[in-house]
Order: sequence, then structure tokens, then C-alpha cells
Amino acid sequence: MCGIVGYVGNKNATQVLINALKKLEYRGYDSAGIAVLEGEDILVRKCKGALKFLEEKIANETIKSSMGIGHTRWATHGEPSDENSHPHTNMDGTISIVHNGIIENYAALKADLQNQGVVFKSQTDTEVIVHLIDKEYKQDKDIFQAVIRTLHKLEGSYALGVLCKDYPDRIICARKESPLVVGLGKGENFIASDVPALLEHTRDVYYLDEKEIAVLYIDHVSLFDFEGNKIVKQPSHVEWDMDAAEKGGYPHFMIKEINEQPKACKDTMRPRIIKDGNGKATDVYFEENSIDVSWKKTKRVVITACGTAYHAGIVAKYAFEKLARIKVDVDVASEFRYRDPILDKDDIFIVISQSGETVDTLSALRLAKKEGLKVIAITNCVGSTVSREADDVIYTLAGPEIAVASTKAYTTQVLCLLLLAIKAGKLRGTLSEEDVSKLLSELEEIPGKIEEILKEQEVIQKFASMQFNKEKVFFIGRQFDSATALESALKLKEVSYMHSEAFAAGELKHGPIALIDDKALVVAIASEPKLYEKIGSNMVEVKSRGATVLVITPDNSGAFDGKTDEIFKIPECSSTLVSLLTIIPAQLFAYYCAIQRGFDPDKPRNLAKSVTVE
Ligand code: G6P
Repeated sequence: MCGIVGYVGNKNATQVLINALKKLEYRGYDSAGIAVLEGEDILVRKCKGALKFLEEKIANETIKSSMGIGHTRWATHGEPSDENSHPHTNMDGTISIVHNGIIENYAALKADLQNQGVVFKSQTDTEVIVHLIDKEYKQDKDIFQAVIRTLHKLEGSYALGVLCKDYPDRIICARKESPLVVGLGKGENFIASDVPALLEHTRDVYYLDEKEIAVLYIDHVSLFDFEGNKIVKQPSHVEWDMDAAEKGGYPHFMIKEINEQPKACKDTMRPRIIKDGNGKATDVYFEENSIDVSWKKTKRVVITACGTAYHAGIVAKYAFEKLARIKVDVDVASEFRYRDPILDKDDIFIVISQSGETVDTLSALRLAKKEGLKVIAITNCVGSTVSREADDVIYTLAGPEIAVASTKAYTTQVLCLLLLAIKAGKLRGTLSEEDVSKLLSELEEIPGKIEEILKEQEVIQKFASMQFNKEKVFFIGRQFDSATALESALKLKEVSYMHSEAFAAGELKHGPIALIDDKALVVAIASEPKLYEKIGSNMVEVKSRGATVLVITPDNSGAFDGKTDEIFKIPECSSTLVSLLTIIPAQLFAYYCAIQRGFDPDKPRNLAKSVTVE
């Protein structure tokens, strides 16, 4: 996700930038750096690790500068390291940039630049931008036009800050799909990825909109579109206090992260979908790894993980079996490692871990490697132990997840696994080219559909305000929906401390139904039309025994009329991909129940975000 800042004024730029970056560390903390104009030159200081290491590095230096740019990194391309830290500079150090976002066509741009003799210092996607600007700048020595021409070559998302030695009076910034705010001071101006970095100095801001450019001078800010035409817009006045600003105006990180899912899914999916010249999605591409395991000859996929990540693994079981016709075993990592598991060296072994540091998952990974298996890791943290020890890594590009209860990491894990299942189906010939194309096009619609659900969050909030005192909550579902049921029950118990359990709906009659009475809420997840009748019967069984029933479903046909107290409608979607939608109302329900019960959902009792001990 990353945070960028910039300053033009009369104060000590280094101090202003460092203080601003401190307020953005929640956006990433893999490395930090600044580039300031000192005298006639650009001075860059950057290093791996949290901001405090950068502070220590420059503590004994006297840097005289009143303008510069800064960055705190959440690694996506290239592990956390000094070289991969921002700012990045052109070869002669005369132009420096910071970037938040993902350049999707960077590999092609990089190859092209390398052919022209450009030497790259990092593995980042960002570095191509500064070399492109450099190349364009050499044409006419007009930095503004050079930036504009470069923007037209970039695909993906970015918020950029550009410093050029030959233009010591300005910082050029641009935004496409990544946030950027311009802070308006008196005799000083600022940029930042987010408002908290600015509040110490000003509350008057321009929120840059899509494809807008800002040029910051000490006494004014000029705004342009991507064609270089001047634009005029009214500044906004920020009313939030610091605490609200850090959470983007949301009261908690959990609800902020729930609402970030459309973007997180878009970021995770887009670089991986290959399109033909007509814009038709044709294949899946995992640039981070070779995925050279033989999907054709393998007979089994083994998945291990813990907690929420384990539930993503259960979704994957249904997806791999359905799309690629491969047998899948999913295991809780803490069980797997002590079971003396039976492994075959042709098995494909997948570990899933948001943090990449969970000790049980790591031990399972090591065990599999010891047995000679190839391991694919799905993780959100570049440079994590899991990512370093696995043979191949698929990164979820969800950005840092701060709330203990996992939300956007889960949906992006499911998304990566669905992409992998589609890829496997294609390689194994169980999916035709048309099937692949159809699934991928449908996947591309998922972020918009999540947005539609999020627009209805008041409905869930109201339902939670009526149900938060229930003694027990049961989530039921069949097939893919049984995985959502598990994750929904976990979410609810984690943050609201309500007793909640999940059952495959067909299992109700084999025991759990004995628990049903008027103190129970049953949430049915029902996304598969051919199973509507079956799960409808389960709903009637529990309703007739006094339970309150909610169904989460895309159904439009009235299949559940009379069988339930509430229906929460989600957009229509093929049952293979629907797990990305059904979980959203359940996350919202957990959040709002926690709020109703007076608990802080960001810091649930007894839980840790990352469990690095047994
Ligand atoms: C902890 C967290 C869960 C998480 C699980 C696995 O229990 O509280 O939210 O799902 O660890 O974490 P990982 O980082 O491996 O995904």
C-alpha cells in the first residue's frame, strides 16, 4: 500500500518529511526513505526496516533542505531491502521519485529500458518510472511534459511525487487509482497519501481526483489534467481529528479494511489477468513465481494454514476440485505437522498465511520441503519467513491489515486461490479457453459487486442491532457456502464474543439441531440454486424450532419466501466465485455486533494478529 509525502516550504524538510511519514507507517513499514534538495543536488537517504532505522541513520547528519519527498514502503515487487526502498533515482541522480501503487506493465517497460542501456538498481516496479521520466526529460528538458508523457506509458495504479534537480522550486505529483492529498499551507505546501500526515500543518486540502496532476511551489499549487490542461477545484476543509484521520474517517480499522475490499481485490487480480488485443481475458499470469510444478501430472494438492487462512484453503478445495479436477486435502497446520502426514513428491503443497510468520504454518511448510515437495506460498507480506522459504510465492496485494480480525486478507487469499485454480484447470485441460475467459471476466466484476454489497451495510447494521443479544449463532451452508459459514462464525466469535459455530447444513440433523431454540440465530448462506431446496428445508427445520433465520443469497425467485425472517440479497454470481461475495455481509454482521455489544473490534481479547509461538 505504501505512504508518500512531499514538502516545499521554509522549514527543515527532513524533519517535516519524517514526522509526516510517522503518521503513515500504518500504510507500510518495510522500509523508509527521503530525497531532499540540498544545495543544488538531490540527497537520498533510505533503508530497510521501520522509519526509526532511517531516523537513526541520519541522526548525526546536518541536512540543509527545505523541500523533498519521502516514502514508507509496503513491499509488493521486490523484497524489503535498502535497494528496493524508495525514493528511486535516475542513473545520474538528478531526478528522484516516490510511488504508491502498482505498475502493471513494468516488466515490458523494464526490458525495453534495459535494451537501451538503462541499469536498474532495484527489483521494484517503481524504478521504471524514474528512468522513463529521465528518458523523456532528455528530449526537451521540460520536466512537466516529461512526467506527462511518462504517465501515458504507465498501466496500473500510482500516486507519485517527483523531484528534479533542474527545477529546484517545485514538486510534481500525479494520481491514478492511489490516493493523494495536497495540503495547502502559508508559505509551504505538502503532499501525502493520507490526511493524518498533514494535520499538524494544515486542514485545507485538495483531494486529487483520478488522473490529476499537482505542481507544488512554496507559495501556490497548480492543478492539471493528464493532458496538461490547467484545472480549478475548490479546496476541502478537514474536520476529522487525528484518530479518525488515521482510519480514513472510519471508527475502526476493521470496518475500514472491510470497505477496502473492492480495491484490494482489484489490486490483487488485475496484474494477473492476461488479455488479448480485444480486451478479452484469456489467461492467468503469476509474475512473482515460476509455478513450474507440473499441474498436469499431479494427483493431489495439499493445503495447510491456520485460522482465516485455513478457511480460504477450504474454498480452494472446492475450486480446485471443480475447475481442475484435482483431489485436494486441506489441513489445519497445527494438526498437519504432528500427524506424520502421507506425502508424495508430486503433490503440490500450498501454504496460506497473511503474515507469513505463523509458526504452525511455517513448520508445515518446512516439513513438506523436507519431504521434497515444492511449496507455493500465498501471503500478504513480502519478505516474510514463509515467502522466503517457499519455492514460489503468490502475493495477495491487500496492503497492511491492521485489525486483528482478518477481512481483506481473506478475500484476496480466496481470489489468488481461484486464479490458481483457473490456471490449473486451463493447464490440465479441464477448462476450455471459453470457460477460462468467462470465469476471468466474471472475476473482474467482483470488486463492483462487493461495492454493491457495501452500499447496503445499513441493512446489516440494523439486523445486528436486533440480534446482538442472541445466546448462540449458527452459520450453515453447503459446498462453497460451508467454507463461508466457517469463516463467518470465526469472525463473529473473534470480535463480538458471541457463541457462534458453523455446520455443513446437511449435518444439522446429526446433532447440532439439538441446540436450536428461540435463543438461536441461524444464518444460512445459500448461493447455489441447485441446492436451494435442500438448504431451504434446513431453514424450515430450525425456524420451526424457534430460531430466528437470516439467509444471505443471490436468489431472485422467492425460493426462501416464508422460510426465513430476513433475506440479505447479494448480487448474482457463479457459485464458483461467490465466496468472494457471501463473506462480506457476514464480516459486516460481526463488526456491527461487536459495536452493539460495546467491544473494540480492532483489539479482540486474547487474540494476536500473528501467532509466532506454539
Ligand atoms: C491468528 C489471527 C487470525 C489469522 C491466523 C493465521 O490467529 O488472529 O486472524 O487468520 O492467525 O494467520 P496468518 O498470518 O498465518 O494468516
